Amino acid sequence: MVNIKPQPGIMQIDLYKGGASELEGHDNVVKLSSNENPFGPSPKAVEAYLKSGKDLHRYPSTSHEHLRQAISRVLDLPEENIICGVGSDEIISLLCQTFSGQGEEVIYTEHGFAMYKISALAAGANPVVVKEENRTTDTSNILNKCNQNTKLIFIANPNNPTGTMITLDQVQDLATKIPKQALLVLDGAYAEYVDNYDGGIQLVKKLRNVMMIRTFSKIYGLGGMRVGWGFSSKQVIEALQRVRGPFNLSVPALAVAEAAIYDQDYVIKCKEKNNFTRDWLIKSLRELGLACDNSFTNFVLPRFKDQLQAELCDKYLQSRGFIVRRVDGYNLPEALRITVGDQTTSERVVSLIEEFLVGQK
Ligand SMILES: Cc1ncc(COP(=O)(O)O)c(C=O)c1O
Repeated sequence: MVNIKPQPGIMQIDLYKGGASELEGHDNVVKLSSNENPFGPSPKAVEAYLKSGKDLHRYPSTSHEHLRQAISRVLDLPEENIICGVGSDEIISLLCQTFSGQGEEVIYTEHGFAMYKISALAAGANPVVVKEENRTTDTSNILNKCNQNTKLIFIANPNNPTGTMITLDQVQDLATKIPKQALLVLDGAYAEYVDNYDGGIQLVKKLRNVMMIRTFSKIYGLGGMRVGWGFSSKQVIEALQRVRGPFNLSVPALAVAEAAIYDQDYVIKCKEKNNFTRDWLIKSLRELGLACDNSFTNFVLPRFKDQLQAELCDKYLQSRGFIVRRVDGYNLPEALRITVGDQTTSERVVSLIEEFLVGQK
């Protein structure tokens, strides 16, 4: 007789649903469901990828020295305070494994990124969800849920899937008020899209209870390579490094991310194009009568009359070969999350939504 059982909490995990990438009956779909950069990665990153082919028989660096050095040089932060992971997903998971366990609590916000809850449950900890106000993080609601068991507090700033954000002053104020055993994790997956925002680098330099996490999957256009990183006090990083697998990042992943971060001109170009088209999209969706918050990211979140209308619009877009993201799993059933594509694609999306709404009348 076998009696194999997973650890408590594991079977409560809902399987993560990624953005769809295929549609039956369509050979050329337009995928706007995973917040990918429509312009792809920097050509210099692609060149590094091709070059790395000659080293595939070698194990990768365990210390990620060159990549950490590159991040440190470009963003002016100490390399010994950086940890790299298989996407920021892995950093989130390492954080939960390292700092939380049974009987302890991991806080995230109402419409927060799905991996916070998944990783907390996988670590045996209790996920605690905090209400947002108008789809925006509310720091007093977070403080109200803090107690002696709170170990981690995740805030995506800007947030996914809402696209909204709070100021660094608000984050700092929160960090100074949370319980002393808690670590505040500021997830900057979309930080590069925000003007005059460092994702929390200066804050981490000042406060030892804050960690910033970042990714190469969004503006760097490298979702397929799976590279993310985090920056925090030495004490936090040294604990995480003990749990991280020694060869977590492959030879190509390390080479590509290093080349990508050095190409900041490319990042700036992508940001300018994205932000222009994103603001145009928001204005156009509002002109169609849809409510839509300002977004600080590479996606927008129009809200429909109700869940049914959002579902029907999603189906209509699919029938035309466009895949966007339903966000009912994020407690936003009346909304659709649409990644900002290039200008032509975005114009097409707006005309299709207009056609759909006209057809509804
Ligand atoms: C807020 C946020 N954090 C983290 C991630 C994870 O990114 P990755 O694991 O690709 O670095 C995402 C991806 O969508 C995200 O939206």
